[in-house]
Amino acid sequence: MKKDFLSSKDISLEEINEIFSLGSRLKKNRYKYLSFLNGKVILMIFDKPSTRTKVSFFVGIKEIGGVPISLNSSELQIGRGETIEDTARVFSRYVHGIVIRTFDHESVERLARNFKYPVINALTSYEHPCQALSDAFTIYEIFKNFNIKLTFVGDFNNVARSLFLILSTLKVREIWFSGPMEFLDESIPREIEKLSNGATSFFVEPDPKKAVRGSDVVYTDVWVSMGFENQEKEREKIMSPYQVNRDLMLSTGKKSFFMHCLPAKRGKEVTDEVIDSDYSVVFDQAENRLHVQKALLITLYKNFV
Ligand code: CP
Ligand code: NVA
Repeated sequence: MKKDFLSSKDISLEEINEIFSLGSRLKKNRYKYLSFLNGKVILMIFDKPSTRTKVSFFVGIKEIGGVPISLNSSELQIGRGETIEDTARVFSRYVHGIVIRTFDHESVERLARNFKYPVINALTSYEHPCQALSDAFTIYEIFKNFNIKLTFVGDFNNVARSLFLILSTLKVREIWFSGPMEFLDESIPREIEKLSNGATSFFVEPDPKKAVRGSDVVYTDVWVSMGFENQEKEREKIMSPYQVNRDLMLSTGKKSFFMHCLPAKRGKEVTDEVIDSDYSVVFDQAENRLHVQKALLITLYKNFV
């Protein structure tokens, strides 16, 4: 496995399968690797709020014998102009890993290039690969294969990008997107084609009712991601046709599952009756973050313990 996990593109099919199998074992027995990290310190830098990612990493690191410490960039000299490169070199002398949530994706790549040990992307405005890896695990738990149609409805953002990329490596049968086209990354169809070797078909359908027809999974995320709060009014207006409500779920015409990375804005991108329904797996997704991230850490640290 590569030193860092910054993007869904950083992981191969074989590595994903290895993580899924370890993740399942850890889910059955959480306390199997209690001394794996043997006291190694992992620095968690969170420049944006987090409930699931921060707590699941904190708990996960502890449960495999590591020591998490938490900071944000404004507490560091980075805020006063010290370079990312110098900061990374200094951290290499103190800690054995960094889990980082911040705005700019490229600054995380610079950090990783200059840091000796693994760097894990805990969300940038560009990608959220830990979410995607664990969501793919949740999908596998439900269907036992990837011969499915998933439709992402709403904002094409970090969560959608990472999810589409990982599902392509897993050669999912169909990915559909329905949302405002101006946010869709033009390079995504090419990336899907490349990662799946042509096995995944990608469709864009502006009408959400048509898009979800026959979907096994309907996935959505907030309309206003962290860092985009100044666009709230405008975004809510253009996203409103893409609300996932009971009517839309009925349009799938079959038993479909509802997924959301959380936090949800109830009444905006999803209604209570959908998120609280029997076909919603949002809390399984949240739980699986813990097991899958522990499996990811163990796989990454095999070369470092
Ligand atoms: N899904 C997710 O990453 O949640 P948090 O923002 O609470 O970490
Ligand atoms: N797209 C959301 C995901 C939060 C987990 C954001 O970036 O705010």
